[in-house]
Amino acid sequence: MSSRQQGLHPIETASLDELRALQLERLRWSLDHAYRNSPFYRAHFDAHGVHPDELRQLEDLAKFPFTGKQNLRDNYPFGMFAVPQSRVARVHASSGTTGKPTVVGYSKNDIDTWAQAVARSIYAAGGRAGDKVHIAYGYGLFTGGLGAHYGAEALGCLVIPMSGGQTEKQAMLIRDFDPDVIMVTPSYMLNIVDELERQGVSAESLALRTGIFGAEPWTDAMRRKLEARAGIDAVDIYGLSEVIGPGVAQECVESKDGPTVWEDLFYPEIIDPATGRVLPNGEEGELVFTSLTKEAMPVIRYRTRDLTRLLPGTARVMRRMDKITGRSDDMMIIRGVNVFPTQIEELLLDIAELAPHYQIKLSRSGNLDTMAICVELNHAAVDTTAEQLARGLQQRIKTMIGVSSTVHVGQPGSVERSQGKARRIVDER
Ligand code: DLL
Repeated sequence: MSSRQQGLHPIETASLDELRALQLERLRWSLDHAYRNSPFYRAHFDAHGVHPDELRQLEDLAKFPFTGKQNLRDNYPFGMFAVPQSRVARVHASSGTTGKPTVVGYSKNDIDTWAQAVARSIYAAGGRAGDKVHIAYGYGLFTGGLGAHYGAEALGCLVIPMSGGQTEKQAMLIRDFDPDVIMVTPSYMLNIVDELERQGVSAESLALRTGIFGAEPWTDAMRRKLEARAGIDAVDIYGLSEVIGPGVAQECVESKDGPTVWEDLFYPEIIDPATGRVLPNGEEGELVFTSLTKEAMPVIRYRTRDLTRLLPGTARVMRRMDKITGRSDDMMIIRGVNVFPTQIEELLLDIAELAPHYQIKLSRSGNLDTMAICVELNHAAVDTTAEQLARGLQQRIKTMIGVSSTVHVGQPGSVERSQGKARRIVDER
């Protein structure tokens, strides 16, 4: 066995047949558990006229109904749980944009499964036992901080539980504690890198070699930017609270070709968001997950609203997902053209004079939706330079994406900075 394989969980090097057999066994258990122990799922399956016994092969999952955020809202706060409250060891919640948050619960075993999934993720990213891991995902009800924390501890790392915010202090601690790995949103990493530069710290003087970035969409162009500026390998971690938190999928550092889905724990499907039909591997649609081992809050065919495709495994036997294009909620329709913030990001990062911070403002004039993109200069320059760059980017957006927009290029520091998940779209309509 090679030294790389020594740290892998046996299922990461199993055969595809072994993986599929394990999934089928676990899927049976999960459907049965949900049906028996969650009044919600019992009623949901009954209403659709399906019973867990009807699952004979993995494809039979398509007979079962989807669940979505609305089901969690309707059962707020604890109505989705499938174990008595005495067996719920922790809750987390994701902040709804409006109204009540979505609540999720974990048994002690679930916390352990999650820690193992994140430990496996950090390992796949290139982290090792004994590494110092700086965590700048927010701690609290958000799953990012504590999820990363338990995973790093489970791998045997020294954890620096910094949480989000206090950017000057983040930079100071990175300089003084000299971590090997950082876990943070890509947009907040940019903010930290700016601050390190402001404090006169060069990337070469730091031990930092790996950035594990997720919780929001980011592009390969952003990867290159972050890798160059921080002197690291930047890899993608994916997850969502409803499924468990960070660590549902992780990009392997040796291939950097999209996150590997930890399919022994979370069974993925891609569906046509309009019809609900399951799409074959390789086709883009909405990502749907079924938990295979979760006790406190199993999710069956949970619609993530994230758009991507499933691809064959490369560095691991499990399938990969493509980098997320965006959430269906973040799709802007500008005069009939569908646009995602990541498309704008790709174009703007091509322009060396522009900083990678951006925000998109949507407004309405008359019956028409208009899109304004606020970006800023890397280094202060005269207004005519800014105007020229703005015209250039506007033109590129028109040619490449096919929409008209107004680009504002401001002086350095003029665009709102991210402290966690970046607010890419400001809807003023
Ligand atoms: O963001 C969990 C997480 C924390 C993942 C830290 C990675 C790192 P939620 O707050 O429930 O959970 O938000 C989940 O964030 O449905 C995606 O739309 C988006 N998202 C998460 N990871 C990625 C990623 C956490 N790597 C929602 N790329 C998901 C693109 C991501 N979008």
